[in-house]
Amino acid sequence: MTVAQRGAIRPAPWTPVRTGRPVPSTRPETTQGSEETGREGINRREFLAYAWGAALALLTLEGGYLTFQFMMPRFRAGEFGGVFELGPAATLPPVGAVPQRNTQGRYWLYHSEEGVKALYQVCTHLGCLYNWIDARNRFECPCHGSKFTAEGDYIEGPAPRSLDQFVVEVVVDGQVVARTEETDTRIVPPKPPSPDAQIRVQTGKKILGKPRELSPARGQG
Ligand code: FES
Repeated sequence: MTVAQRGAIRPAPWTPVRTGRPVPSTRPETTQGSEETGREGINRREFLAYAWGAALALLTLEGGYLTFQFMMPRFRAGEFGGVFELGPAATLPPVGAVPQRNTQGRYWLYHSEEGVKALYQVCTHLGCLYNWIDARNRFECPCHGSKFTAEGDYIEGPAPRSLDQFVVEVVVDGQVVARTEETDTRIVPPKPPSPDAQIRVQTGKKILGKPRELSPARGQG
Protein backbone atom coordinates (compact mmCIF):
# COMPACT_ATOMS: atom_id res chain seq x y z
CA MET A 1 0.00 0.00 0.00
CA THR A 2 1.39 3.37 -0.97
CA VAL A 3 1.48 6.47 1.24
CA ALA A 4 -1.12 8.09 -0.97
CA GLN A 5 -3.29 5.10 -0.56
CA ARG A 6 -2.78 5.11 3.23
CA GLY A 7 -3.72 8.83 3.58
CA ALA A 8 -6.87 8.52 1.53
CA ILE A 9 -10.10 9.01 3.47
CA ARG A 10 -12.33 6.04 3.16
CA PRO A 11 -16.05 6.50 3.36
CA ALA A 12 -17.76 5.15 6.46
CA PRO A 13 -19.52 1.89 5.78
CA TRP A 14 -22.98 3.47 6.31
CA THR A 15 -22.37 6.50 4.08
CA PRO A 16 -24.27 6.10 0.82
CA VAL A 17 -22.02 5.98 -2.12
CA ARG A 18 -22.85 8.50 -4.76
CA THR A 19 -22.33 6.92 -8.07
CA GLY A 20 -23.87 9.72 -10.08
CA ARG A 21 -26.50 7.37 -11.38
CA PRO A 22 -30.11 7.82 -10.31
CA VAL A 23 -31.07 5.39 -7.55
CA PRO A 24 -34.32 3.66 -8.32
CA SER A 25 -36.98 4.62 -5.80
CA THR A 26 -38.46 1.88 -3.59
CA ARG A 27 -41.64 3.95 -2.87
CA PRO A 28 -44.76 3.41 -4.94
CA GLU A 29 -45.43 5.74 -7.78
CA THR A 30 -48.08 7.49 -5.74
CA THR A 31 -46.95 10.84 -4.44
CA GLN A 32 -47.99 11.54 -0.87
CA GLY A 33 -50.09 14.71 -0.51
CA SER A 34 -51.19 14.58 -4.11
CA GLU A 35 -54.76 13.80 -5.19
CA GLU A 36 -53.53 11.09 -7.51
CA THR A 37 -53.90 7.63 -6.02
CA GLY A 38 -52.68 5.74 -9.07
CA ARG A 39 -52.98 5.86 -12.77
CA GLU A 40 -55.69 3.23 -12.97
CA GLY A 41 -57.44 4.07 -9.65
CA ILE A 42 -59.72 6.96 -8.74
CA ASN A 43 -58.77 10.20 -7.14
CA ARG A 44 -60.02 11.35 -3.76
CA ARG A 45 -62.64 13.67 -5.18
CA GLU A 46 -64.16 10.88 -7.23
CA PHE A 47 -64.08 8.57 -4.25
CA LEU A 48 -65.98 11.11 -2.11
CA ALA A 49 -68.54 11.63 -4.87
CA TYR A 50 -69.15 7.87 -5.07
CA ALA A 51 -69.44 7.61 -1.29
CA TRP A 52 -71.96 10.45 -1.16
CA GLY A 53 -73.93 8.89 -3.99
CA ALA A 54 -74.04 5.54 -2.23
CA ALA A 55 -75.13 7.14 1.06
CA LEU A 56 -77.85 9.10 -0.75
CA ALA A 57 -79.10 5.99 -2.54
CA LEU A 58 -79.20 4.13 0.78
CA LEU A 59 -81.17 6.94 2.41
CA THR A 60 -83.62 7.04 -0.51
CA LEU A 61 -84.14 3.29 -0.31
CA GLU A 62 -84.69 3.44 3.42
CA GLY A 63 -87.15 6.32 3.04
CA GLY A 64 -89.05 4.40 0.37
CA TYR A 65 -89.22 1.31 2.55
CA LEU A 66 -90.53 3.29 5.54
CA THR A 67 -93.16 4.98 3.35
CA PHE A 68 -94.22 1.58 2.01
CA GLN A 69 -94.51 0.23 5.56
CA PHE A 70 -96.57 3.28 6.57
CA MET A 71 -98.97 2.86 3.64
CA MET A 72 -99.49 -0.85 4.22
CA PRO A 73 -102.33 -1.97 6.49
CA ARG A 74 -100.91 -2.49 9.95
CA PHE A 75 -103.36 -5.15 11.04
CA ARG A 76 -103.75 -8.62 9.71
CA ALA A 77 -107.04 -10.40 9.17
CA GLY A 78 -108.29 -12.04 12.34
CA GLU A 79 -106.62 -9.66 14.76
CA PHE A 80 -108.17 -6.62 16.40
CA GLY A 81 -107.94 -3.67 14.04
CA GLY A 82 -108.19 -5.93 11.00
CA VAL A 83 -110.92 -7.82 9.14
CA PHE A 84 -112.86 -10.72 10.65
CA GLU A 85 -114.32 -13.08 8.06
CA LEU A 86 -117.40 -14.67 9.63
CA GLY A 87 -118.31 -16.90 6.70
CA PRO A 88 -121.70 -17.35 5.07
CA ALA A 89 -124.74 -15.61 6.49
CA ALA A 90 -126.30 -19.02 7.07
CA THR A 91 -123.83 -19.61 9.91
CA LEU A 92 -124.80 -16.43 11.77
CA PRO A 93 -126.65 -16.77 15.07
CA PRO A 94 -130.42 -16.96 14.48
CA VAL A 95 -132.35 -13.73 14.30
CA GLY A 96 -133.11 -12.49 17.81
CA ALA A 97 -130.65 -14.86 19.53
CA VAL A 98 -128.61 -13.45 22.41
CA PRO A 99 -125.58 -11.44 21.25
CA GLN A 100 -122.37 -13.43 20.85
CA ARG A 101 -119.08 -12.11 22.09
CA ASN A 102 -115.97 -12.23 19.92
CA THR A 103 -113.14 -11.61 22.39
CA GLN A 104 -110.44 -11.48 19.74
CA GLY A 105 -112.32 -8.92 17.68
CA ARG A 106 -113.57 -7.13 20.84
CA TYR A 107 -117.17 -6.95 19.70
CA TRP A 108 -120.59 -8.43 20.34
CA LEU A 109 -122.34 -9.77 17.28
CA TYR A 110 -126.08 -9.37 17.12
CA HIS A 111 -128.37 -10.58 14.38
CA SER A 112 -131.77 -8.90 14.29
CA GLU A 113 -134.61 -8.50 11.81
CA GLU A 114 -132.88 -5.30 10.75
CA GLY A 115 -129.54 -6.90 9.97
CA VAL A 116 -126.17 -7.69 11.54
CA LYS A 117 -124.44 -5.51 14.10
CA ALA A 118 -120.96 -5.72 15.62
CA LEU A 119 -121.01 -3.69 18.85
CA TYR A 120 -117.67 -2.55 20.23
CA GLN A 121 -117.29 -4.18 23.64
CA VAL A 122 -116.25 -0.98 25.45
CA CYS A 123 -118.80 1.17 27.32
CA THR A 124 -119.23 4.67 25.89
CA HIS A 125 -119.06 6.22 29.35
CA LEU A 126 -115.55 5.61 30.72
CA GLY A 127 -114.45 2.53 28.83
CA CYS A 128 -115.39 -0.43 31.06
CA LEU A 129 -116.38 -3.74 29.49
CA TYR A 130 -120.13 -4.22 29.69
CA ASN A 131 -121.85 -7.61 29.89
CA TRP A 132 -124.92 -9.24 28.47
CA ILE A 133 -127.48 -9.92 31.21
CA ASP A 134 -129.79 -12.70 30.07
CA ALA A 135 -132.30 -12.20 32.87
CA ARG A 136 -132.98 -8.61 31.83
CA ASN A 137 -132.32 -9.08 28.14
CA ARG A 138 -129.91 -6.16 27.85
CA PHE A 139 -126.30 -5.07 28.24
CA GLU A 140 -125.26 -3.60 31.58
CA CYS A 141 -122.04 -1.92 32.52
CA PRO A 142 -120.64 -3.04 35.91
CA CYS A 143 -118.83 0.26 36.53
CA HIS A 144 -121.56 2.90 36.73
CA GLY A 145 -124.68 1.09 35.58
CA SER A 146 -125.24 2.23 32.00
CA LYS A 147 -127.66 -0.01 30.13
CA PHE A 148 -128.14 -0.73 26.44
CA THR A 149 -130.42 -2.89 24.32
CA ALA A 150 -129.16 -5.84 22.26
CA GLU A 151 -129.07 -3.41 19.32
CA GLY A 152 -126.71 -1.20 21.33
CA ASP A 153 -129.24 1.58 21.93
CA TYR A 154 -128.83 3.61 25.09
CA ILE A 155 -131.44 2.88 27.80
CA GLU A 156 -130.18 4.67 30.92
CA GLY A 157 -127.12 5.58 32.95
CA PRO A 158 -124.26 8.08 32.62
CA ALA A 159 -123.14 6.92 29.14
CA PRO A 160 -123.38 9.88 26.74
CA ARG A 161 -124.36 7.82 23.69
CA SER A 162 -125.43 4.44 22.40
CA LEU A 163 -122.79 1.76 21.84
CA ASP A 164 -120.20 2.21 19.13
CA GLN A 165 -120.16 -0.26 16.25
CA PHE A 166 -117.75 -1.71 13.76
CA VAL A 167 -118.59 -1.68 10.09
CA VAL A 168 -120.14 -4.94 8.91
CA GLU A 169 -119.99 -5.83 5.22
CA VAL A 170 -121.98 -8.34 3.18
CA VAL A 171 -120.00 -9.76 0.29
CA VAL A 172 -121.38 -11.65 -2.70
CA ASP A 173 -118.98 -12.98 -5.36
CA GLY A 174 -116.22 -10.78 -4.01
CA GLN A 175 -118.33 -7.61 -4.21
CA VAL A 176 -119.53 -5.68 -1.18
CA VAL A 177 -123.30 -5.49 -1.63
CA ALA A 178 -124.20 -4.00 1.76
CA ARG A 179 -122.33 -2.20 4.50
CA THR A 180 -123.17 -0.59 7.82
CA GLU A 181 -124.33 2.93 7.07
CA GLU A 182 -124.63 5.97 9.26
CA THR A 183 -127.67 8.15 8.72
CA ASP A 184 -128.72 11.38 10.40
CA THR A 185 -130.64 9.71 13.16
CA ARG A 186 -129.48 6.10 13.36
CA ILE A 187 -127.04 3.45 12.23
CA VAL A 188 -128.41 1.09 9.61
CA PRO A 189 -127.03 -2.46 9.82
CA PRO A 190 -126.56 -4.42 6.59
CA LYS A 191 -128.94 -7.27 5.86
CA PRO A 192 -127.56 -10.36 4.09
CA PRO A 193 -129.43 -10.83 0.78
CA SER A 194 -128.92 -14.60 0.76
CA PRO A 195 -127.67 -17.34 3.11
CA ASP A 196 -124.59 -17.75 0.90
CA ALA A 197 -123.49 -14.14 1.24
CA GLN A 198 -120.27 -13.77 3.19
CA ILE A 199 -120.20 -11.59 6.29
CA ARG A 200 -117.19 -9.72 7.54
CA VAL A 201 -116.49 -7.27 10.33
CA GLN A 202 -114.04 -4.40 9.88
CA THR A 203 -112.68 -3.80 13.38
CA GLY A 204 -110.54 -0.96 12.05
CA LYS A 205 -113.65 1.07 11.11
CA LYS A 206 -115.72 2.28 14.02
CA ILE A 207 -118.96 4.22 13.93
CA LEU A 208 -119.78 6.19 17.07
CA GLY A 209 -123.10 5.57 18.75
CA LYS A 210 -125.73 8.30 18.52
CA PRO A 211 -126.18 10.73 21.43
CA ARG A 212 -128.40 9.26 24.13
CA GLU A 213 -131.04 11.93 23.48
CA LEU A 214 -131.64 10.29 20.09
CA SER A 215 -131.93 6.74 21.38
CA PRO A 216 -135.34 5.15 20.70
CA ALA A 217 -134.87 3.01 23.87
CA ARG A 218 -134.07 5.86 26.22
CA GLY A 219 -135.79 5.49 29.58
CA GLN A 220 -137.21 2.04 28.78
CA GLY A 221 -135.35 0.39 31.64
S1 FES B 1 -117.92 2.97 32.27
FE1 FES B 1 -119.81 2.08 31.81
S2 FES B 1 -121.20 3.22 32.94
FE2 FES B 1 -119.31 4.11 33.39
